[in-house]
Amino acid sequence: VPDTHMAARLVDWYEQNRRELPWRQTRDPYAIWVSETMLQQTRVETVIPYYHAFLAAFPTVRALAAAAEDEVLKRWQGLGYYSRARNLHRAAKQVVERHHGVIPDDEASFGQLPGVGPYTCGAVLSIAFGKPIPAVDGNVLRVMTRYLSLSDPIEQPAVKARVASAVKAWLDAADPNRLTQGLMELGATVCVPKSPRCTACPLQPGCAGSAAGIAEELPVRLPR
Ligand code: ADE
Repeated sequence: VPDTHMAARLVDWYEQNRRELPWRQTRDPYAIWVSETMLQQTRVETVIPYYHAFLAAFPTVRALAAAAEDEVLKRWQGLGYYSRARNLHRAAKQVVERHHGVIPDDEASFGQLPGVGPYTCGAVLSIAFGKPIPAVDGNVLRVMTRYLSLSDPIEQPAVKARVASAVKAWLDAADPNRLTQGLMELGATVCVPKSPRCTACPLQPGCAGSAAGIAEELPVRLPR
């Protein structure tokens, strides 16, 4: 099944089924960066009130850069993993000092800011700027290892690389904003860890894991 076809099916499904989450009402790269940083280790329902309060306190990257660290940490209280907040604050200062307060839209510049790993970089560049940069988190790994029927452990770099390259092909074939968020939404609501709802899945016609009857067994992790 061609990439253009599957990418279009996924984007159409996303438009029909998307939840209206607060960070989906904006293309402001700063707001999307804040949301993706919060969402990395914290559930959607928990993040929502923090997202609103954080943006009310620090509405722009300049406002965040100008804030005192204890003010920033106070708004993060309860979310945990405080290094995320410290890095975001440091990164905001760098955006002001090195990029005139404008969030860079290229992988090299944005990706080198503190706390911006490959996932956050791909998420912000694809969602806010529409760039075809893959954002592979746990949900996307699950969807794609199933779609491609990859049964090698996901700790193997080759598995992540194979997933990122398949996502890249889809990003090149569709609107990156909706493709990235469609993959996340599919992983959160349909291609779930236990009892995936394959009959409701827009990718089912091309899904090798479902065809082989092993979708629920994937992804495989190394025993710990
Ligand atoms: N998890 C990570 N990023 C997300 C997003 N943009 N929407 C919903 N869940 C997410």
